[in-house]
Amino acid sequence: MQWQHAIKNGLVYSDGHFISANIYVKAGKIAAITDANLGQAETETDASGLYVLPGLIDTHVHSRDPHATYKEDFYHSTLAAAMGGITAIFEMPNTNPSISSVAHLQQQIVNLESKANVDFALWGLCLGDLNNQSLSDLNDAGVVAFKFFWGYAIDKKSHLLAYQYKSGDPNLIAPLADGEVYDIFRAVKPTGKQLAIHAENSQLMSRFSQQIKQEGRCDYQALLDGRPDLVEAATISLAIQFAKSSGTPLHILHLTSKAGMDLIRQAQLDGVSITAETCPHYLFLTNEDFSRVGNEMKVYPPIKYQTDQDALWQGIADGTITSICSDHAPHTQEEKQGALFEVPAGMCGIETQVPLMLNAVNEGRLSLADVVGLMSENPAHIYHIYPKKGAIAVGSDADFTLVDMTKEKILSRDALHSKSKVMAYDGMKVKGLPVGTIVRGVTVVKDGELINDLQGKFFKPIK
Ligand code: DOR
Ligand code: ZN
Repeated sequence: MQWQHAIKNGLVYSDGHFISANIYVKAGKIAAITDANLGQAETETDASGLYVLPGLIDTHVHSRDPHATYKEDFYHSTLAAAMGGITAIFEMPNTNPSISSVAHLQQQIVNLESKANVDFALWGLCLGDLNNQSLSDLNDAGVVAFKFFWGYAIDKKSHLLAYQYKSGDPNLIAPLADGEVYDIFRAVKPTGKQLAIHAENSQLMSRFSQQIKQEGRCDYQALLDGRPDLVEAATISLAIQFAKSSGTPLHILHLTSKAGMDLIRQAQLDGVSITAETCPHYLFLTNEDFSRVGNEMKVYPPIKYQTDQDALWQGIADGTITSICSDHAPHTQEEKQGALFEVPAGMCGIETQVPLMLNAVNEGRLSLADVVGLMSENPAHIYHIYPKKGAIAVGSDADFTLVDMTKEKILSRDALHSKSKVMAYDGMKVKGLPVGTIVRGVTVVKDGELINDLQGKFFKPIK
């Protein structure tokens, strides 16, 4: 048969709007988009009444593999991704070993390819003077971009993040001083890739947190007082200066605050190369939800106030926010129990992000085309994988997310496919669901059922 897969009668995303069309796939690539009938295919999908989106991409995932596979592993995170309508993910580099050298990158590709249910790319990790000289080789070896955990101490041996830092600890490398951070910007510049930063100022944070501990406070307000918007804005502000001076494209990870948003918007107006992402938990939760949700919604940087959430939605409306991703960061339910200040930050998000965003479309908060922009087209452009990914065009990978905008579901922690069941939306009713996940022409998930597993492959940026 001439065609591998035909997706027929869907409303197909094309340049910001939707057209009625059939899509024909050959050897994993889109071969034709047409209103004509070009005949039978080995696999046929009837997409009547469904929207056919370019495969949605999650650019911010911590699968904990290898490192803490009791919390999550790559098979489960990519299964959850496929179940949630995601066709490709970018895996974060703070694994053990960390993705800070070419040898580790190559090891990681082999490790993850044996467990991948969706396609994946890999972030490279910046450690300052320790690996600035490796960034060019890491780039040549195919990392999709570079991440720097600004403000974090790291373990001397494993380079894992230290969440509780006391100065003078002989096992830790202290948070880097500004000069060393600036050299990271300079080292990333020749690669042409984004330098993505976790933006929290460690000195402010530790000072504020100390004061709060002395006062004996450990409620959610205390968490926010220890990591206020100033903590995020101070680092973003300096990062903008560094990006301006070095010419390195800057990406702000998991933006949470109005203060940060205002700085990014102004920098974009000033012509600085700066992009920004936020995550559904910052768009759908505020400090007010803590009394209901509890520790499960503890993430870093923390979820802030309604005014911040409103500013993030404004940033989506005016294009300041360029992408949305999950920051899927699983911990076990046992680990999340205890005093707020002691439990780890992070929650599952890979499987719920598309339903939450589609529900927001049904509520009139943004359009379906906006979702495609934020979760497929823009990330594909920013990370140099367009039009291989992020487009429904002849020659592009045949990655599709099929969505039914009328279908309803109650989100449930027990229904998650991650190893961890830590999530903040248990019991929430959503309307608009992914009902098909197709990766390079192969149906991975259809109507919530796993059809073909282990289809995922590593991919590199185009340039
Ligand atoms: O909440 C978070 N969890 N924020 C981070 O930056 C790291 C992540 C994790 O790896 O647990
Ligand atoms: Zn993260």
